[in-house]
Amino acid sequence: MNGSVTGTNEPATPPRPSTTGPARRVAVVGASSGLGRSIALGLSARGDHVALLARRRDRLDRAVDQASGHAIAIECDVTDEVHCAAAIAAAATELGGLDALVYSSGVIAIEPLATTSAATWTRLFATNVVGAATATRAALPHLRATHGRAIYLSSVSAQSGVWPLLGAYTATKAALDKMIDTWRDEHPELGFTRLIVGDSAGGPGESATQLGADASVDLLLTGLDTWQRRGLRSHGLVDPDDLVSAVAYVLGSTASIPVIAVTPPPAPMHGAPSGG
Ligand SMILES: NC(=O)c1ccc[n+]([C@@H]2O[C@H](COP(=O)([O-])OP(=O)(O)OC[C@H]3O[C@@H](n4cnc5c(N)ncnc54)[C@H](OP(=O)(O)O)[C@@H]3O)[C@@H](O)[C@H]2O)c1
Repeated sequence: MNGSVTGTNEPATPPRPSTTGPARRVAVVGASSGLGRSIALGLSARGDHVALLARRRDRLDRAVDQASGHAIAIECDVTDEVHCAAAIAAAATELGGLDALVYSSGVIAIEPLATTSAATWTRLFATNVVGAATATRAALPHLRATHGRAIYLSSVSAQSGVWPLLGAYTATKAALDKMIDTWRDEHPELGFTRLIVGDSAGGPGESATQLGADASVDLLLTGLDTWQRRGLRSHGLVDPDDLVSAVAYVLGSTASIPVIAVTPPPAPMHGAPSGG
């Protein structure tokens, strides 16, 4: 693994291993692009049975075609409570149960708070927080039946420092983090994990991230420069394969893992030999 992975283990009320056999049944929400797609295809390659959920059906179908193992595509808009609940139920039916939910759906806004509209705030909270609550609520009976796990993609930007131009986004990820803690407290029989993710470009082809693709280039460049100068960003990028390994580790563990972080690889030492 190239990235840096850290976790904290909690001894109390560990969930049981999510399956008795090698193939776990995993619903990945937000699997039409970027990190969710990388995780879904990576788990499929490791032998898990995956349901890929998101709004863009054409992309989901192409991802399913690329999957190495049993994979299905299900349309899901997490901002529509009824639609999302039906999609999760369909995933559980099609897979014959659910051992895990991976929530990767997310949207971002890169702009100052002074210009951030109520509509933008609402869209970000609806997708990044309320959608996660809706998907979890829908998955709950299926996860309780298997003593399963839920993993949510959060962000280093919600952990420390102030990230200018990401005010609304970091607020949603901080809210997501608090919500995950409450799910864990209310359902100690299940595993709830916050996966803190550093900067990532995603994987090849349609697994490339689209986060911020609709942002103003000027604001994006200003943001990147400011975050770099403040020491908030590291020089490298998270390899999505490391995210797959982290998710697979959590899903295969008997321990309760409240938090796991995958950040870019350590900077090379100055003057270090170049290898060979
Ligand atoms: N990339 C990074 O550097 C980075 C760093 C830290 C954390 N993260 C987090 O990692 C997660 C994935 O990011 P990414 O880089 O993979 O971004 P991405 O390529 O833009 O993927 C976002 C996913 O969210 C889905 N989505 C958006 N709105 C949705 C809705 N209403 N209903 C269902 N799904 C919806 C999209 O699918 P559809 O549009 O097809 O619905 C897509 O599959 C996000 O939660 C993000 O905050 C990313």
